[in-house]
Amino acid sequence: KTGYITLDFGYKNTGSTKSAITYLDGENGVLRYRGYPIEQLAEKASFLEVAYLLIYGELPTKAQLDNFQSSITKHTLVHEDMKQFFEAYPAKAHPMGVLASMVCSLSTFYPESLNPNRSEAEFDLTIHRLLAKLPTLAAWSYKNAMRHPFMYPKNNMEYCENFLYMMFAMPTEEYHIDPVVISALNKLLILHADHEQNCSASTVRIVGSSQANLYASISAGISALWGPLHGGANQAVIEMLEKIHNDGGDVDKWVAKAKDKEDPFRLMGFGHRVYKNFDPRATIIKKACDDVLEKLGIVDPMLDIAKKLEKVALEDDYFKSRNLYPNVDFYSGIIYRALGIPTEMFTVMFALGRLPGWIAQWKEMISNGEPIGRPRQVYVGATERDYVDIEKR
Ligand code: SDX
Repeated sequence: KTGYITLDFGYKNTGSTKSAITYLDGENGVLRYRGYPIEQLAEKASFLEVAYLLIYGELPTKAQLDNFQSSITKHTLVHEDMKQFFEAYPAKAHPMGVLASMVCSLSTFYPESLNPNRSEAEFDLTIHRLLAKLPTLAAWSYKNAMRHPFMYPKNNMEYCENFLYMMFAMPTEEYHIDPVVISALNKLLILHADHEQNCSASTVRIVGSSQANLYASISAGISALWGPLHGGANQAVIEMLEKIHNDGGDVDKWVAKAKDKEDPFRLMGFGHRVYKNFDPRATIIKKACDDVLEKLGIVDPMLDIAKKLEKVALEDDYFKSRNLYPNVDFYSGIIYRALGIPTEMFTVMFALGRLPGWIAQWKEMISNGEPIGRPRQVYVGATERDYVDIEKR
């Protein structure tokens, strides 16, 4: 494509980044984190175990995981001064906007995060603080939008349980979390944990390559993820399914609309820059949809519409000829709904899952001593010409 640029993160003239974190085969629908198939990790691992694997390169021993978890538990609280920032936001402020600014402001509370010559221990502390505080900041951005009282993290809860508690508990009553909900959230976060050089990970790497601190780099990644063509798609999928449902559920009509060149409507949750076959994450999430809804005794008409939409689209030449298959966002929103997560928090959930991947990508770029990212271009503008006085224009 003319004007196409290649994001070169410092490997001269290769036009791509070398990375040892995630392997992705778009033709065969293969996704591995540090060599481990996503199918096995989604079934057997905990989200923090996968976070450790992505960031430090190996599955943790029990002692390493215990230390990692206790270091994170110690830092789940957010500085009391940050609470006043929340109060400055109107209820309608989008949680992704609140989250991006809150994460960036963490660097003003923790000066070691700004020191490029920090010790290994300070480097790890900067990382663990962010893993610990993002769930708290995410839950508080929701509580703030609802004008509900903030719930503080509990040190005796594991990561997913603690997040759900901070999101939905109220100080006036006991809050019970169904283990099915915790396990479904754990699986979803693992499936979103990294995806090599996607838009937001590339953003984190290129912002970090200027030696901007981790929190500023992740804040930029959150902003990139917000877009409906990227992480914002899971919210757009549910809004699309609701529109089809409210329009009488005529799936064929909407598939025809998605092919109409005059109409900018796209089937959200379909297509992918890399997967030109199935997205292995969508396969796992689709199965988990049936499983979670059945265990929770939920019947969601959106799931029936999603399955009908998938069936019609996969039999349609327009979609087949363009290799358009459901991606990670197509079914994830249906599970988030079943877990009680509000639609406006879906992309925040994607950010929670993607955080360890962003951190791993940033850490790899720093550890490799990569130079500042400086994309180049193919110039297609005007050739040299002389200035014309305004009277003569
Ligand atoms: C994520 O990169 C990653 O790894 C991202 C991600 C991650 O984990 O980080 O996997 C997460 O972002 C998943 C994608 C979520 N986005 C959506 O679901 C939004 C809907 N999808 C599309 O906007 C699109 O498919 C993209 C953005 C995902 C991919 O865009 P491409 O590969 O650049 O495809 P394209 O825009 O060049 O389209 C190719 C053709 C076009 O038609 P023609 O010009 O050839 O006639 O396919 C059509 C497009 O119009 N097309 C669609 C379509 N997606 C592409 N037509 C209808 N519905 C769609 N969803």
